Amino acid sequence: MSFGVEDGILSIDGVRVDEVVEKTGTPVYITSYSKLLENINAYRKAFPEQKKLYAVKANYNLAILRIIAKEGFGADVFSHGELYLALLAGFKPEDILFNGNSKSDEEILAGIRAGVGFSVDSLDELHTISEIALSEGRTVKIAFRVNPDVSPETHPKIATGLRTSKFGIPWEDVVDAYRIAYELPNVDPAGIHCHIGSQIREVEPFVEAMNRLFDISAEIQETGIKLEFMDIGGGPGIDYDGKGALNPDNFAEAIIPVFRERKKEINESLELWLEPGRSIVGNTTVLITRVNSVKKAYKNFVAVDAGFNTLIRPAMYGSFHRVSVASKIDREAEETYTIAGPICESGDILAEDRKLPRVEKGDLIAVYDVGAYGFVMSSQYNGRPRCAEVLAKNGEFHIIREKEDIGDILSKQRIPEFLF
Ligand code: LLP
Repeated sequence: MSFGVEDGILSIDGVRVDEVVEKTGTPVYITSYSKLLENINAYRKAFPEQKKLYAVKANYNLAILRIIAKEGFGADVFSHGELYLALLAGFKPEDILFNGNSKSDEEILAGIRAGVGFSVDSLDELHTISEIALSEGRTVKIAFRVNPDVSPETHPKIATGLRTSKFGIPWEDVVDAYRIAYELPNVDPAGIHCHIGSQIREVEPFVEAMNRLFDISAEIQETGIKLEFMDIGGGPGIDYDGKGALNPDNFAEAIIPVFRERKKEINESLELWLEPGRSIVGNTTVLITRVNSVKKAYKNFVAVDAGFNTLIRPAMYGSFHRVSVASKIDREAEETYTIAGPICESGDILAEDRKLPRVEKGDLIAVYDVGAYGFVMSSQYNGRPRCAEVLAKNGEFHIIREKEDIGDILSKQRIPEFLF
């Protein structure tokens, strides 16, 4: 079992969290290997023939990337840094798609030299890719990122397929973009791509977006292009709050039949690609944070050592994450507490008004489902070094990122000579 209880303490893959904390201190992110494998296998079962590109931005710890690469996934990368890490972790260049709405020439060159495909966000970018590919003597496989103008019900900051979004080319204009690409040297417009947003709990917006891509694909093929793949991006939501979510099975049941039926209009060899991030890593990881003090004010505050420097989602999106008292996991809930971080901002609240067992200084609090967009969005704000990351597997744990120290805060800073 991924998450369990041993001697009243939360355990992850057979490792008690207090044992980890003894070694790493707090806060610390702990990932369950078995949960990660379960998620990977669920995708493999639901989408056996489809190409699955893991969205590296969700969690790019090298050990996590290595597990996902070894299990045969491809990767969606969004920067030179993510590309570098993905290659280092063992993803194959032909299974990597370089996404992004603002790639620098240097990033494009790095991607072309690595031999990866590109999702192209504008005509400017198309011309740049063609020029660089020409000078490198390479031909680059591309897809256009289409803005399909669908509005999933999710937080506005993570809806990316709206008409007003900065991402992609409006679907009405994209056929012209393919015409131009067809004429340009050293680009091979082989795919069509969209991504409508993240933490989406219904299948309908995905089906709507896919139908929109099919509507324009026939016209694209009339330009002489033969489309090889349709990439519908990532976005399936996970169950943060117990109100239900998508899973790979119900996601697959909704989209695969539509894809099978409609690809007949385009060409039978068209492949379906996906880019899941959150639904691979989100529920694999728990953040453990220590209680510094408990205070009765107008509310009951539990002040812990992780704030929005460590996990920004609650402050940034008002996201809900379940919490528990990891050091008293089987005690009964008695009091309502608000969990506050150590950052000098009143918005630094991890969880509001949660009923928990009685909390005392020194207790360990667990914040759940933080494997996606957790550590990767952390910062050193307020001069706090970033925390460690740990992988738990079969009763053992491995530190997969050392915690930072004050040296990491200092490392790139310089005082100009005139100040001495
Ligand atoms: N593909 C593209 C092109 C994307 O932009 C994203 C996420 C994904 C795939 C993966 O989406 P997922 O399956 O993880 O939903 N920081 C926010 C989420 C930002 C998502 C950005 N793009 C959060 O913490 O909720």
